[in-house]
Amino acid sequence: MRLGLVLFGAGRAGTIHLNNVARNRRIDLLYVVEDDIAKAEKALESTGIATAKVVDSRCTEDVLSDSAVQFVIVATPTHTHEKIVRAALHAKKGVFCEKPIAKSIDAVVQIYNEAARVGKPLFCAFQRRFDPNFVDVRDRMRKGEIGKLHVIKTCSRDSPSPSIEYVRTSGGFFVDSSVHDIDLVCWIVGELPITIQAQAHAFRRDIADAGDVDTIAIVMKFPSGVIAQIDMSRYSSYGYDQRIEVHGDKGMIIAANAKRSTVTRFSPLGECSDVLLHSFPQRYQYAYENELDHFVDVMLGEKELISTKKDAVAVMKIAKICEESYQTSKVIKFQAEF
Ligand SMILES: NC(=O)c1ccc[n+]([C@@H]2O[C@H](COP(=O)([O-])OP(=O)(O)OC[C@H]3O[C@@H](n4cnc5c(N)ncnc54)[C@H](O)[C@@H]3O)[C@@H](O)[C@H]2O)c1
Repeated sequence: MRLGLVLFGAGRAGTIHLNNVARNRRIDLLYVVEDDIAKAEKALESTGIATAKVVDSRCTEDVLSDSAVQFVIVATPTHTHEKIVRAALHAKKGVFCEKPIAKSIDAVVQIYNEAARVGKPLFCAFQRRFDPNFVDVRDRMRKGEIGKLHVIKTCSRDSPSPSIEYVRTSGGFFVDSSVHDIDLVCWIVGELPITIQAQAHAFRRDIADAGDVDTIAIVMKFPSGVIAQIDMSRYSSYGYDQRIEVHGDKGMIIAANAKRSTVTRFSPLGECSDVLLHSFPQRYQYAYENELDHFVDVMLGEKELISTKKDAVAVMKIAKICEESYQTSKVIKFQAEF
């Protein structure tokens, strides 16, 4: 069975999903809703999908009323998610939405409640849960390969730096990006934190002027005693830097950076290996493919969603607490209430 799809947004994230949709035999792309029609037509043409129509956002209600559409992918700027997701649920379509689903915690809760009411899956697309390296780290840790977990560290440094237009509409670095690391850490640890502390700074003048930060450090303590350290930057000069490390009483596991090739040159001056991957489309290629496959399984009733309302709401709450901790210089207690 093939599922009819509407893709909202054909920008950076939307293009990744568009390419994966083109390779997925269980999906029929019916519409691309994009305000920049020429951009969407060009992206669509490069996939070879000839059947989908490109329309602008004024046609949102029309495409959602098409009974051949079973689900939507929302890859538009964050501030537009809430309206599109609510409209899609109202039309009883499944929703795969780029993070975050909405800018406020109340809105995220309401939207999940609405999805439950209409009985359609709502997925907050944290693709890192589908990265084969990170899945392997979690599986090995769960099997006891490092004994009792003590510390988890993530490092997420972006490349290239996003445009200042993106930063301005992103909801802020904590809600826009820390959510990925927070989700990954809580998913690997299997708990929610009890205390949260964050520091941040804006080294870039335009980011400071936009009221945001470009460098973040988060420390969280979990009920089991595990301590998490999250290290983030909006810009890495040496490529897309994404690493995790788990340390336990019987050892350590690292998921190192992916490189463009495995070639290393040795000379009297030392070793020289290839550069890091450029950005998220390359680094998380398999993760994006896997998360889409997972959602199709869910839509077809073959699997349960890997991430729930509880996860998405907790991640948003923790990200907001991180922001508050940075602003107030306080260590803040977290109590998960749903
Ligand atoms: N999971 C990830 O790794 C990842 C990576 C990048 C971005 N994102 C998320 O994806 C979303 C989009 O980010 P991006 O970097 O692709 O932005 P982008 O600006 O590159 O693309 C957004 C596109 O949406 C279009 N658009 C704007 N309003 C629209 C509307 N109402 N209807 C239809 N199209 C509309 C714009 O014309 C633009 O082409 C954001 O929520 C961001 O947080 C996720």
